[in-house]
Amino acid sequence: MNLETLILAAGKGTRMKSKLPKVLHKVCGKPMVQYVIEAAKKVGSSREVVVIGSGAELVVKTIKDVEFALQEEQLGTGHAVLCAKKNFENSEGMVLILCGDTPLLTSELLEKFTAAHINTNCAATVLTAEMPDAKGYGRVIREEDGSFKKIIEDRDATDDEKQIREVNAGCYCFDVKKLFGSLEKISNQNAQGEYYLPDVLPILKSEGEKVGAFKAKYCIETIGINNRSQLAAADKALRMRKEQELMEAGVTIIDPNTTFIDGDVKIGQDTIIYPNTYIEGNTTIGEDCVIGPNVRFTDMKVGNKVTVQFSYCHEAEILDGVTMGPYVHIRPGTIIGENVKIGNFVEVKNSNIGEGSKLPHLQYIGDTDMGSGVNIGCGTVTCNYDGKKKHRTTIGDNAFVGCNTNLVAPVNVGEGAYIGAGSTITKDVPKENLAVGRAKQVNIEVWNDKRK
Ligand code: UD1
Ligand code: CA
Repeated sequence: MNLETLILAAGKGTRMKSKLPKVLHKVCGKPMVQYVIEAAKKVGSSREVVVIGSGAELVVKTIKDVEFALQEEQLGTGHAVLCAKKNFENSEGMVLILCGDTPLLTSELLEKFTAAHINTNCAATVLTAEMPDAKGYGRVIREEDGSFKKIIEDRDATDDEKQIREVNAGCYCFDVKKLFGSLEKISNQNAQGEYYLPDVLPILKSEGEKVGAFKAKYCIETIGINNRSQLAAADKALRMRKEQELMEAGVTIIDPNTTFIDGDVKIGQDTIIYPNTYIEGNTTIGEDCVIGPNVRFTDMKVGNKVTVQFSYCHEAEILDGVTMGPYVHIRPGTIIGENVKIGNFVEVKNSNIGEGSKLPHLQYIGDTDMGSGVNIGCGTVTCNYDGKKKHRTTIGDNAFVGCNTNLVAPVNVGEGAYIGAGSTITKDVPKENLAVGRAKQVNIEVWNDKRK
């Protein structure tokens, strides 16, 4: 059966107390609404319409590959669906309605849920869950025979109804024609003065349609995020899920509680992740690596057999066999070649470091193209900025740069060249030459030692 999806994401999220629209708050590194969209796509939805309102511009800028419908004034979830009526004018079959604030929903659960809807021939099915703490959720009221009756919102519920722990997960399957046929009949006569989407369910029932309630096995998948503590709880749950997946695929995570891996990160088999490590954004790590302790990777591409500890690397690439750290900062635009060794207190920015080169300690290398087999002495600095512009340095294969050298860019050091320690290099060094750019030492035998 054709399946289309409508995602409600227009609410301000007042309880978040945020300038950012709620659905753009990140969970495990990604805006929460993105998870909902991905789950819908995975379950075979042919199109996704997202209802937007507060912060609409920002949502449109952030979220890709969906259609949008605008709800100018946020008059409730039922009103939000009505705002997308035009988008579904020519639709037939099933529409899945999801809330943008339930990022833990899995496609596996949606699969079961939509199948139950189809198999029971219902006009509408609502997803429910037993919550240990149901506060804030709409409660599921059932008939005496256990069939679905209606949803009562927390703020409209009596004390008795508040005891009910089965809640509306905010996820529905509707026959699209029947939904829009009856939706205009809901009213806003309730505690919040809003048009509630769940109110269409008893209306459909009263019109002789079959309405079902499908209870999820685990409540964790259906938690809605309304405030910052729920945000933290969802983040933790999604991270645990991600780490579980990685461990099942052969990654060792020494301490999952102190390791923070974003949802889209990929890690190869037999890589070991030590504690206090953050692997964020669009990062890929190969096999047999040892990462951490205390590493932060953001948008990194890392090869196989790489070892990094106590370091921060972002928007760069590290090829196979590199060892790095402690205390290395790799900045955007850098490619660290195969088997490069980078020791402690080294910063590399917007540079290419050739295969097997060594940066053992205390260097700043910026805007540099370095060949292979180069050795850079301790304390070497590329002076890449003249106060106005950045300039590049090139260093040929197998060059040897002595300790405490200043390479004043733009400057080229030829292949196999040798630079004496303490040099300030302002002119190009030809291939295989020795360059010494420092004052000659003077030893004075007879002098007036004032200490005597
Ligand atoms: C809603 C349900 C509640 C359910 C809970 C599940 C209603 C009336 N209540 O409550 O039964 O237990 O979700 O998490 O539906 N939105 C709009 N436009 C609006 C209002 C909301 O697009 O005018 C969007 C929000 O951006 C959000 C979603 O709808 O993504 C749910 O709204 P929210 O205010 O969080 O509803 P809850 O109070 O959590
Ligand atoms: Ca909610």
